Amino acid sequence: MPQLAILRYPDPRLHTVARPVTAVDDRIRQLVADMIETMYAAQGVGLAATQVDVHERVIVMDTSEERKAPLVLINPEIVERSAELALAEEGCLSVPQVYDRVERHARVRVHALDREGRPFELDAQGLTAVCVQHEMDHLVGKVFVEYLSAFKRDRIRTKMLKRTRDEQRRA
Ligand code: NI
Repeated sequence: MPQLAILRYPDPRLHTVARPVTAVDDRIRQLVADMIETMYAAQGVGLAATQVDVHERVIVMDTSEERKAPLVLINPEIVERSAELALAEEGCLSVPQVYDRVERHARVRVHALDREGRPFELDAQGLTAVCVQHEMDHLVGKVFVEYLSAFKRDRIRTKMLKRTRDEQRRA
């Protein structure tokens, strides 16, 4: 199974809106397997298909401590959100080494399909709630830095462009 290349902010492809998966078939299962491998290799807690330049509504997550309980959400939809909000520090594999606080719903209930195409519901709180909202944002083309001030976002953009240039020079 190949690891997939992760798009880095401010790559404009990160702003693509993903389309729903029409059939959970072997192609989607292969994508899911590759995304899980890529997420673990990058030591992330979540990855959206958008980040690997596939614009279909697929996310994988693992917020467990043991890191061997991958959760697959295909066509996820939030069906309930708590009025209560919570502020938590976030990072993103597409914005490496940048962490900042974002306010989100403290709890969400998500309806999705698993990798066999079976529907299920996830009641998420804590890190799982943060992660699922963060990953679902990717599917509508939104990166967490867009919640930060324009000043911070510009600094992050400059830093990421410089890092990518430096890496390309070294390559
Ligand atoms: Ni992310």
